[in-house]
Amino acid sequence: MKRHELKISYAEFENESELNESDRELLQKARVAAESAYAPYSNFYVGAALLLKNGQIITGNNQENVAYPSGLCAERVAIYAAGATFPDEAIETIAVTCKSPAFEVNEPLSPCGACRQAIAEYEMRHNSKIRILLAGEKGRIRMVESISDLLPFMFKAEELKKG
Ligand code: THU
Repeated sequence: MKRHELKISYAEFENESELNESDRELLQKARVAAESAYAPYSNFYVGAALLLKNGQIITGNNQENVAYPSGLCAERVAIYAAGATFPDEAIETIAVTCKSPAFEVNEPLSPCGACRQAIAEYEMRHNSKIRILLAGEKGRIRMVESISDLLPFMFKAEELKKG
């Protein structure tokens, strides 16, 4: 038996004013998107904004359903909208944020596993890393340069080709 260690890397910004203009604008678009989330069951409002290589910005928010698993997270709503509308454009950056009327979210959002896998798919689809900016309603902002820092040992297409 041999034990291994894996390093991930992320950056943190004290607050929005430390971000560059383009990231700040993207996060602002994610905040606006969160406002119109359809989240009557959780009351947790998530917004995502994607910057594509061609400069277009696509937004999404969580869409819930009374049959709970039929709903979809903000990140995947935005990613699939981008994939459907601009199939040939790589995604450069995703900004995700959240808010709740019940409590103050002052930690960066941590995307669910399924959304991490969807982001991974789009890195592979376009062979291009996606920067991910994660914010709460307030407080510090976390940034990774690629999904591999959020989803080590991800399921990849090569796995399907084995055997
Ligand atoms: N949610 C997202 O939209 N993105 C995430 O990364 C985590 C969770 C949504 C799903 C559901 O509508 C609500 O937040 C509570 O889980």
